[in-house]
Order: sequence, then C-alpha cells, then structure tokens
Amino acid sequence: MQKILELKGLKKHYPILGGVLRREVNTVKALDGIDLDIYRGECLGMVGESGCGKTTTGKAIIRLLDPTCGNVYYHGKGQESGDPVDIARTKKSALKRLGIRGKLQMVFQDPTTSLNPRMLAKHIIAEPIKTIERQGGRELEDRIIALLKLVGLTRDHLLRYPHEFSGGQRQRIAVARAIATNPEFIVLDEPTSALDVSVQSQILNLLKSLQETLGLTYLFITHHLLVVKYISDRTAVMYLGKIVEIANTETVFSRPLHPYTHALLSAIPIPDVEHKQRRIVLSGDVPSPVNPPHGCRFHTRCPFNADLCRKQEPPLKEVENGHKVACHRHSEMENLIAKWFATSQ
Ligand SMILES: Nc1ncnc2c1ncn2[C@@H]1O[C@H](COP(=O)(O)OP(=O)(O)O)[C@@H](O)[C@H]1O
Ligand SMILES: [Mg+2]
Repeated sequence: MQKILELKGLKKHYPILGGVLRREVNTVKALDGIDLDIYRGECLGMVGESGCGKTTTGKAIIRLLDPTCGNVYYHGKGQESGDPVDIARTKKSALKRLGIRGKLQMVFQDPTTSLNPRMLAKHIIAEPIKTIERQGGRELEDRIIALLKLVGLTRDHLLRYPHEFSGGQRQRIAVARAIATNPEFIVLDEPTSALDVSVQSQILNLLKSLQETLGLTYLFITHHLLVVKYISDRTAVMYLGKIVEIANTETVFSRPLHPYTHALLSAIPIPDVEHKQRRIVLSGDVPSPVNPPHGCRFHTRCPFNADLCRKQEPPLKEVENGHKVACHRHSEMENLIAKWFATSQ
C-alpha cells in the first residue's frame, strides 16, 4: 500500500495568555506528538472523547493551522518517486504554487456555520476553485452543476442560499465544495453529527460512494463508534492529544488491546433486553490537556494501572501486523479484562 501522508511527531500547543502583559503562562497540549501513516485510498477513522484533539489533528494535517512542531509528509499523485512535500514546514504560498492546497480539503461538523449564509450555493462551491485557478462563465457553471449532481442535488439548487436547504442538503453543498478542487485527501470532521438521524445514513452512503468513484482518501473523525465501524477500514483511538491504539477496524472492535478502547466499546448500547451488558465504566472526566498526567496519560482513569504506568509513558508500539497500542500491560489485557468482568458481576 502506498502512503499518501506521513505524520511524524506532530504537535499543536495553544498558548494560554495571562496577566496584565498577556504573557504566555501555560499551554493547551491539544495535539501532543503523533506519528501516523495514512494510505492512499483508505478511510481512516479517528475516535475519542470530545476535546481529545481530533479536530486539531485534522486541521494541522491540511495546514488550516500551523503545527507547533513535527512534520506532515505528503506523497502527491504523480510524484511518488520524488521527495514528499512537508506540508507542516513549507510556506503557504509555496503550497499554493505547488498546487497542493486544493488536494487537501476538509468538511466540518455543522454546515449551518461552515457555509456563508450570504452566499448562493453556486458561489460557495466556486470559491475554492477560484482560489487555485482562473475559471469563469459557462465552463465554471457547468463544473458546478456536475458537482451538484455528484452530491445528489440539481441545477435548480444553484441559486439558493444555505437557509433554503435542509440540514442534509447543506452538508451535500459542503461536500460539493470540498470535492470541487479534485482533492486526493479529505478530512471529514464529524460530518454527520449535527444532522437528523434519518439523514445521517444518506450522507454516509454519499461519502462512501464518492470515495469509490473519485478514488479519495479520508480521515473520518467522529465520536460515534458505530459510524466508524460502518465506514472506515482502519481506526485510530485518541486520548488526550495522543493515539493510544490503531488497527484494522475489525481488529479494533473484536480484539482491542487498550483499556480505553475497551471502555469506549463497552459504552455502545446493545439493543437486547436479555443481554446483560458487560461494561468497563471509567471514573472521572478526561484530565485537562494543559497538565496531562505523568506516565501513561490514561492511568488516572484506568482500572488496571500499575506502578510503571504512573511513572513511564508507554510508546505506541506495533504488537501484531499493523496493530499498534500504547499500553504497558497490553499483553495481559485479555486476562485482566476477563478477571474484571468475572468479579464485577
Ligand atoms: N484555538 C484554541 N485555543 C486554545 N485551545 C484550543 C483551541 N482549539 C482547541 N483548543 C483545545 O484543544 C483541545 C482539543 O480540541 P479539539 O481538537 O477541538 O478536540 P476534539 O475535536 O477532539 O473535540 C481542547 O482542550 C480544546 O479546548
Ligand atoms: Mg472536534
């Protein structure tokens, strides 16, 4: 499999300013060093509780914000043999000149706020095209109509404002805008979370079929595990600015090795009254990313924490082919979980 993106030690720290002089007094470690390979044509799911750094990761990859440190190597189509471009360290003007900006796009959670309410649908979709190439008149309009068709709308929708669409249709416009520049990679940041349940699956199916027809690579961010199970090939689990587990989606669901992944999975309700669900309930809230706990950052909520976990941060280590986990006790995890269930019920 070919890599499209390689993240190396990617960090984003936001300064917290304080005092009369507005000096930097601390930092929010929103994204605290992640290494990740994304393969061409895959849908990589990213899950984790709110505030763990998912949106920051997506924005840092496509350079919607400047990472504090680290690299994002992009292997563009047609330049596989050449050196990859480090998106994190290349000037924005150079990214534009190299035609890379349009190759990386993002769809946001809430189309009501991500679409300009004062712009017609056709101008919304034309906007990203105009920033990278000169096109106008008939040619541009035809292209926009083709894009509308691709996302399940028609030319009748060209001259409407965002408020004239339903939530699902608005998200279709946002998707049309994202694919307008013929991207190779799209970050989908909770693209269905703000929609009515009845239209969520329609948008998911649209995204799935677009991925196939256009040969796209997705980073699909969500806090909804069943959505990830449905749509993604691999799944990365984030906790407090770091990836704690990553594997094929099937493996993550059938043989998770990190206690946090176990806890997330056991929180999915099972619609069966006979079934007595076995749960790992985590105590407490997610700690603040300003001062993440020493050692393993999950130890304060982990039912299995040991001495070592409080002292040393576990690295994200490959334990099986393509299955990586950051836990000192991963090899004992199956036994620990079995024991936990035996004694807790
Ligand atoms: N512009 C910002 N300034 C300061 N802190 C921020 C900013 N954006 C996000 N954060 C903080 O960074 C952390 C991660 O945020 P985010 O990436 O939005 O998480 P998620 O998408 O997983 O909910 C949160 O603690 C959030 O409060
Ligand atoms: Mg978010």
